[in-house]
Amino acid sequence: MMKDLHSMTYPAVSPSLLAADKARIGDELARAERAGATFIHIDVMDGKFVPNVSFSLDFVREYAHKHHMVNDVHIMVEEPWVLAPKFVEAGADIVTFHYEACPDQTLRFATIEAIHRAGGLAGISIKPDTPVSVLEPFLPYVDLILIMSVEPGKGGQPFLPGSLEKLDELKALLAQNTKKYAPVIEIDGGIKEDTYNKALAHGAQILVAGSYLFGHEDFADRVALMLQGR
Ligand code: DX5
Ligand code: ZN
Repeated sequence: MMKDLHSMTYPAVSPSLLAADKARIGDELARAERAGATFIHIDVMDGKFVPNVSFSLDFVREYAHKHHMVNDVHIMVEEPWVLAPKFVEAGADIVTFHYEACPDQTLRFATIEAIHRAGGLAGISIKPDTPVSVLEPFLPYVDLILIMSVEPGKGGQPFLPGSLEKLDELKALLAQNTKKYAPVIEIDGGIKEDTYNKALAHGAQILVAGSYLFGHEDFADRVALMLQGR
């Protein structure tokens, strides 16, 4: 069933499985859910849009139904208009694709439409060098906007401070959006103790965090503080 992002509580945390122990994904999912995460972030990389390869369609198919969190699938792939609906069929609730992965507006709108037609929620993401203004035509149509606060492709990189300004610009753009429901704002990359508060103060609603959460004894305490926004 399609999830309703506007009935969720924010801020929310979306632990990024990229930093999880791949040999025990089931345990890691349980750990994230117990800690209070309401979203789970699954990074898909094709080795073309970004140099690395990460989770696949089969991975989503295997694990999407083994927990109760929202499957927040971030596809860093070429030709998202072909692949995005397949991820919905595999169990993704949200499929977020990259603006930069599409050569033109027609294919960007086609990707959003394909996700919706498959029954999923559509997110669009921009890389650090892409200006927020390019998102304007999509605001009435997407369910989520993902601001990348690092270059996509790997975990553990430092938060780019210019991302805060981008969040401000996005908020200003959204204030002019006339749709009843505004897209939810997510931030991804370098989110940890000294950055999540700033991201929240600048309007981020879903905090993606990989290396700050997985592999740490106090995973649950960290999530609890993030959820309180302090
Ligand atoms: C990077 C991914 C992120 C990554 C974040 O391309 O999109 O989701 O896992 O990792 P951290 O939280 O370690 O910066
Ligand atoms: Zn991601």
